[in-house]
Amino acid sequence: MIYIKTKKEIDYIRESCKITAEALQLLKRYVKVGITTKELDHIAEEYIKSNNAVAAFKGYSQGGPSIDYPAAICASVDDEVVHGIPGNRVLKNGEIISLDVGVKKNGYFGDAALSVAVGEISKEKQRLMDVTEKSLYIGIEQAVVDNKVHDISYAVQEYVEANGFSIVRDLCGHGVGKYLHEEPSIPNFGKKGSGPKLKNGMTIAIEPMVNMGKYNVKTNYDGWTVLTIDGLPSAHFEHTILVSNGKPEILTVC
Ligand code: MF3
Ligand code: CO
Repeated sequence: MIYIKTKKEIDYIRESCKITAEALQLLKRYVKVGITTKELDHIAEEYIKSNNAVAAFKGYSQGGPSIDYPAAICASVDDEVVHGIPGNRVLKNGEIISLDVGVKKNGYFGDAALSVAVGEISKEKQRLMDVTEKSLYIGIEQAVVDNKVHDISYAVQEYVEANGFSIVRDLCGHGVGKYLHEEPSIPNFGKKGSGPKLKNGMTIAIEPMVNMGKYNVKTNYDGWTVLTIDGLPSAHFEHTILVSNGKPEILTVC
């Protein structure tokens, strides 16, 4: 079921999204050669708590045999696509890191992600991040009333592939707000004019994951970290969006 949010629910989601965006901007300033992903996790969690909110990913269960997600953020470096578990990994010059944050406050959720350079990175890695971010905005533009969900998917895929990169197929965006993951699923590839209709009051997370090489991914032995099959880098950008007055409004801004 796709939830259409009430005005009051939207106010709560807006608040969680603002904290999400602020946490990401804070993290971005801390990304430097020598910092560990665990330190970044700590910074984000403290910031979220100081806003009387909860880190939404912590304790999240994906069902099946893997452990509940043990951290506040996902920190995915280079060939790690998403769901990298923060730990003792020290960031090195030339790496790119994708940071994903989820916040719950008053029972409502916000979800966003971005990729950032560690020190000096190659031109191709910079282009990977730029294309991924732009593909998110191209997808968001399609989130208008009377369009369908796969109009977003198609637009993202088209742009990414035209730029010579590949779009991950095994993971999707999603409805968000009352729960971290709600219907509809929002793939980053698909056929124009298909999928559920977009309506005012829908809140959705659009999140292209773009690989420099092949689109295939695998899950690590930890049960969470998603890696590219070919070991080439991947980037990830995500916003929570509200469809309002027929148009998309980005909620994960500060
Ligand atoms: N933004 C990611 C997603 O929507 C983060 C989920 S991490 C998890 O899947 F631990 F909560 F699963
Ligand atoms: Co998400």
